Amino acid sequence: MDSSLLILYASTSGNTEYVVSILADLLRDNLVNTTVNIIRCEEASVKDLGKADRIILASGTWDIGGAEGQLNPHLDSFLKKDCKNVDLKQKPVAIVSLGDTRYYFTSRASEHLRKFIMSHNGTVLGQPLTIINEPQGQEERINKWGEKLIKLISES
Ligand SMILES: Cc1cc2nc3c(=O)[nH]c(=O)nc-3n(C[C@H](O)[C@H](O)[C@H](O)COP(=O)(O)O)c2cc1C
Repeated sequence: MDSSLLILYASTSGNTEYVVSILADLLRDNLVNTTVNIIRCEEASVKDLGKADRIILASGTWDIGGAEGQLNPHLDSFLKKDCKNVDLKQKPVAIVSLGDTRYYFTSRASEHLRKFIMSHNGTVLGQPLTIINEPQGQEERINKWGEKLIKLISES
């Protein structure tokens, strides 16, 4: 049976976008009978979450109102306001989080994403992919994580 996977992401300086574009190519090449949609959160609607069978949530770690260790502000707003009443109905959701060692709360975005999934009745799929510092040069790690995800999805 055909299924769908949504990659929902935010990216301000392009790093998360780079990571999810690698993952989208890999997933499209390897997951037969799965439609992979990739959407920036600024262009997403709550319905996109409902339509997908599986989701990857991806965000860099940013500061909001001077407080570091937060989600990208665009994704923070989308998840907390637009998706306030979303029921994920046990849907599997994987986490991609980026950060930088110059900041104390390094890659804390993953914790915020986990909290969102758990508090909205979702199921965390696998281990988070955490990319610290520039993603360029970390393509092998990204692909390895993607391959594990493909295995998890194929076996489920
Ligand atoms: C203003 C600002 C605040 C940031 N705050 C954090 C932080 O608290 N923790 C962290 O690990 N990285 C932090 N970062 C680093 C970003 O998460 C990192 O550069 C990431 O790759 C950006 O992804 P994006 O380009 O997809 O938005 C910050 C970067 C900027 C410019």
